[in-house]
Amino acid sequence: MSRTIAVLTGGSTPERDVALAGAAQVVAALRDRGYTVRTVDTAYGELSSEREAQLLHPDVKREPPGAAALEDLAELEQAIDLVTLDALTNTDVTFLVLHGAQVEGGALQERLDAARITYTGSDPAGSRLAMDKDAAKRRLEDAGIPTPAWALWPADDEAVRSFGFPLIVKPSKAGSSVGLSLVETVNDLPAAIRVAQTVDDEVLIEVYLPGRELTIGILDGRALTVGEIIPQHEIFDYECKYTPGLTEEVFPADIDTALAKDIQYLGETAHRALGLRDFSRVDFRLDTGGRPHCIEANTLPGMTATSLLPQSAAASGLSFGDLCARLVELALRRAGHGNKVPR
Ligand SMILES: Nc1ncnc2c1ncn2[C@@H]1O[C@H](COP(=O)(O)OP(=O)(O)O)[C@@H](O)[C@H]1O
Ligand SMILES: [Mg+2]
Repeated sequence: MSRTIAVLTGGSTPERDVALAGAAQVVAALRDRGYTVRTVDTAYGELSSEREAQLLHPDVKREPPGAAALEDLAELEQAIDLVTLDALTNTDVTFLVLHGAQVEGGALQERLDAARITYTGSDPAGSRLAMDKDAAKRRLEDAGIPTPAWALWPADDEAVRSFGFPLIVKPSKAGSSVGLSLVETVNDLPAAIRVAQTVDDEVLIEVYLPGRELTIGILDGRALTVGEIIPQHEIFDYECKYTPGLTEEVFPADIDTALAKDIQYLGETAHRALGLRDFSRVDFRLDTGGRPHCIEANTLPGMTATSLLPQSAAASGLSFGDLCARLVELALRRAGHGNKVPR
């Protein structure tokens, strides 16, 4: 019997386009595998095939959607009670292809749990923790995983001095480098703080690590293949993330076996320490001594076929279709038989 999957996508955050691009490819891959797929946009509800063809396009624009457009979408979202939609309650698994604080923070997962809807990926608590960089970094430190030194803003002058310049300013709860700045001088600090505060009340200042950037996909608790991210800018900012050609991504990373093993171990440990489920992508930067520090773990990493987690999986022999099918299986395993069965 063919399973029915609801692919839930859209959102009203700056990462909406990224989600739609991922959904375009996840939907195609799952249909290719013989699943029946119903596509649901958080703002528009279940999509007809015509609407789906209009909305799900594989390209991401250079800039995130503007504030006015996102406000309109948020208003539409208010009017929809997602967890009562037939497309979600009457399918086997809801496959989340969404990004941004609302979902990565676990609020949606909480509502899905309450409605007994089976979904892919981490539970509310793990999602909430990973989304909160300040809380997550404390947990990583407790687990013995190095992470760049940081302070919550407002920080005292001494902390700022000890970090030196350049330093990183970022919202505690965000993604896709939205609201994040590399700050070169003390004069640029106030403006960077203001930018970050438009995204989240809690803002971190963090020591800048100038070394290479490495990433590892985790699937069912096990590390996949380490990759290197080589952006043309000093940091992996929004433009580098979503403009083809601005970033080189190398899988497997051209690094020592010992460092690769280290990253795999730290990635698995971070995934476990943060209480994540099914899959995640854990990101690292090397310090001047070449030692890896965990910058963050992502519970809903990008899911286009060329996104980093799918590349990490591909380098381990799992195609994009295999990966999508595996995420469905992991959710089904948790559900027992999917949510058509009364429990
Ligand atoms: N402490 C740091 N040192 C050097 N680069 C950093 C640091 N923190 C973040 N970055 C750069 O900014 C990018 C985005 O930061 P990250 O903390 O992952 O936020 P987001 O959740 O927005 O992806 C990273 O991929 C990296 O290139
Ligand atoms: Mg990141």
